[in-house]
Amino acid sequence: MCGIIGIVLRYQRALSKPLGSVIKGCLKNLEYRGYDSVGFALASSNSLVIRKSKGKIDEVDVKLAFDDFDGICGVGHTRWATHGKPSDINAHPLTDCSKRIVVVHNGIIENYLELKEELIRRGHRFESETDTEVVPHLIEEFKKLGMNSYDAFKKAASLLRGTYALAVIDTDEPGRIYFARNTSPLVIGIRDDATFLASDIPAFIDYTRKVIVIQDDEVGYISGSDVRIEKLVSKSYEVDLTPPICELVDYSSRIRHIDWTPEMAKKGGYPHFMLKEIHEQPQAIASTLSSLANEVKDVLKLISKADRVLIVGAGTSYHASFVGSILLSELAEVKSHAIISSEMKWYSRSVDECDVVIAVSQSGETIDTLLAVREARRRGALTIALTNVIDSTLARESHLTIYTRAGPEVGVAATKTFSAQVVALTYLALSLAEYRSTLSTNKLNELKNSLRSLPDYVSSTISATEPRARSLASLISSKQNAYYLGRGLGLPVSMEGALKLKEVAYIHAESYPAGESKHGPIALVDEGFPVFFTILGSNDGELIISNVEEMKARGALTIAVIPSNLDRIHKYFNYAFIMHPVPYEVAPSLYIIPHQLLAYYTAVTLGYDPDKPRNLAKTVTVV
Ligand code: G6P
Repeated sequence: MCGIIGIVLRYQRALSKPLGSVIKGCLKNLEYRGYDSVGFALASSNSLVIRKSKGKIDEVDVKLAFDDFDGICGVGHTRWATHGKPSDINAHPLTDCSKRIVVVHNGIIENYLELKEELIRRGHRFESETDTEVVPHLIEEFKKLGMNSYDAFKKAASLLRGTYALAVIDTDEPGRIYFARNTSPLVIGIRDDATFLASDIPAFIDYTRKVIVIQDDEVGYISGSDVRIEKLVSKSYEVDLTPPICELVDYSSRIRHIDWTPEMAKKGGYPHFMLKEIHEQPQAIASTLSSLANEVKDVLKLISKADRVLIVGAGTSYHASFVGSILLSELAEVKSHAIISSEMKWYSRSVDECDVVIAVSQSGETIDTLLAVREARRRGALTIALTNVIDSTLARESHLTIYTRAGPEVGVAATKTFSAQVVALTYLALSLAEYRSTLSTNKLNELKNSLRSLPDYVSSTISATEPRARSLASLISSKQNAYYLGRGLGLPVSMEGALKLKEVAYIHAESYPAGESKHGPIALVDEGFPVFFTILGSNDGELIISNVEEMKARGALTIAVIPSNLDRIHKYFNYAFIMHPVPYEVAPSLYIIPHQLLAYYTAVTLGYDPDKPRNLAKTVTVV
């Protein structure tokens, strides 16, 4: 996920070193967000310097020479590629035709293609492959049409759809940095002799702890001694001269003093990355959904005419693949099977040019998944990567790529990348269902609307289930074993729940189809043996009751993740996470949340570091 820093000084050298050096330090504090390129721009009353490059800060520092540049106002950026590969040209800052307006951006501008076409029609020349470059050109265009610098910026911001945190310098106003936020984070840091703008507090924590968090749909600017915040209350998507309507915001009650340590600050105040990343799921899902339409459009016809779709993945990515295979089959009537990457070779003799192989991998580097793709390609199948890392080996080696946009995941146990993968596969299944007319319009609309509302449901579910997960953790931490049972889509969610508990709390946890539990697993169940049931809706709810009864009769401690509207079933369980009822087909990325939280809190209760589980690696490049 990109990192932004912007600084305006009240007077030259206010922070006792060249502004380029200060920006470098701030960007280094944002390195934990993950990035592939770095850049900065420094303005003073009569000059503008822009330096940028692919690579890590320490590697490219000699070339960029941060320390050699000074100024009164500057922006810096670490880019985590989403639109356009990592390269010097695609690195931020990006500029307009006259190279007088510079922009750094975090997020995805969904309508950039239509804006770019319009701007090209009006004579603008683009240099990069990024979505971001439309922003400086839009500002340039509105200034050309007669607007002043700040109004042109606000007008440009009001035209953007998607997610964004923006920091902009216009050399006609060198003492200001304009900003705008929608979904992507942005905070202001204040001190007497300088004002900061950043994606996250750690960027400037060495200089100030006095912060204001910018809210969605806010625009404004910082100067060396002032902050102006306005709320964008009306948007018009027309490239015309109607200024957007904004209301001035009184932010005095929003100024906070942060007492975090720098280490805590990197984790956004959370004690571990795993917890931070669990909490980032609403944003991971929203960003992923915002960019899928174009990528998925390209594959509908190809998948639809295939004989079958094989979805391969390892670990958590296999569980997402499993969800995907059920949904492709249930919603779009596509023959699909999920296969664990390392087991794919036992099926490959039957793979041919009539197959599509979708390879799911957050890192895009897992060797077992890569080998499965290479073999499938050799046999003539169409290969599609579903990955979180742009230009990863998997993306490069597959015919087509669909990206999840969860941002970098630091915790070894995957959380937000799982929900992003599940959401991407759900979107694919729904798009295929629409393309193949396999669902009624009502059902299709109901599912699409629920998918769109998922970020909100996920957010409220985290708040609603976290206290129970924390309190149940002390009970689970005293156990040696646990079963996770489910039916249908509840099964891959259960498998992922069991994996999380194993990975970070080192408790032996196994998942089975609930109906299968009586064929062996039940032999181990005795007094107090924890058995989790993940029930996504009334279909699996009715069926599962007999499995619950069987477990209870042996003294099991039964715990449910269950929708609130199945209240007649709640009484069967010792404990329950009561969930918002959503359609069964979109439930998996919501119902995994209590499992993730419980695994996290159990690990912490037992004194383990959930970010670095023993014997595990984030990216596995050996067979
Ligand atoms: C490792 C990680 C897991 C991950 C799996 C697959 O085992 O510890 O969290 O699910 O690899 O990784 P991928 O990058 O292919 O999704």
